[in-house]
Amino acid sequence: MMERTLIRNVNIFSDLKDREVDKILEIVEKKDFIKDSTILTQDDLGDALFIIVSGRVKVVLMGEEGKEITLSTLKEGAFFGEMSLLDGEPRSASVVALEDSSLLIMKRDEFLNQIRKSPGIALKIMIEMSKRLRRADEKIGSLALLDVYGRIAQVLIQLAKSEEGGTKKAIIIKKRPTHQEIANMVGTSRETVSRVLSDLSKEGYITIKGKEILIHKDLSPVESLGHHF
Ligand code: CMP
Repeated sequence: MMERTLIRNVNIFSDLKDREVDKILEIVEKKDFIKDSTILTQDDLGDALFIIVSGRVKVVLMGEEGKEITLSTLKEGAFFGEMSLLDGEPRSASVVALEDSSLLIMKRDEFLNQIRKSPGIALKIMIEMSKRLRRADEKIGSLALLDVYGRIAQVLIQLAKSEEGGTKKAIIIKKRPTHQEIANMVGTSRETVSRVLSDLSKEGYITIKGKEILIHKDLSPVESLGHHF
């Protein structure tokens, strides 16, 4: 029997009573995915919702010649695959494991039943979808309006916001994405990301130490002005 805490860690199920959590445990299946495996594929038909118990995934659109753009990364407690279940269209993007990940899978009918039964769950899903649309809007704005310095600064600010760590002097991003991953997030090349990060560290904004990035200065001027070095 899977633990109730697994389910309670999932934001949309956090307020359920023990009895309701046990019901969810009965209708989900646990499945492990190794790093780099594709969990669902853009344009396929969707028949299930996925919930991340542990690990991290990226939501990507694949282009020609192996180009890809990362729309979002999702971690423990997040869900994905709800869009196809709600509107009946094919999968809007592919989802790939960034680390070994353990997921819960809920079939379409069960997911729709949960929504029909519980206005609390429906509301939480709508709140989460609003947050995602907001972020997607920011992304469209930054792709159209900011230069590559601004876009990379924005990614660093977002990563820093999603981490709790830090000291008085610096904010710490603990598990930084690779240069290629950042490139995929902002629609540029790996070489450009390396150049921009090196410029930002020369200017004293950041220090890169192995897997960590320390942010020493407020990056928002770089973000908002599309600052050139
Ligand atoms: P679905 O379209 O069924 O399959 C791909 C999933 O990726 C989608 O449901 C959402 O759960 C997720 N997804 C698509 N676009 C975004 C985005 N911009 N931000 C976060 N998640 C997304």
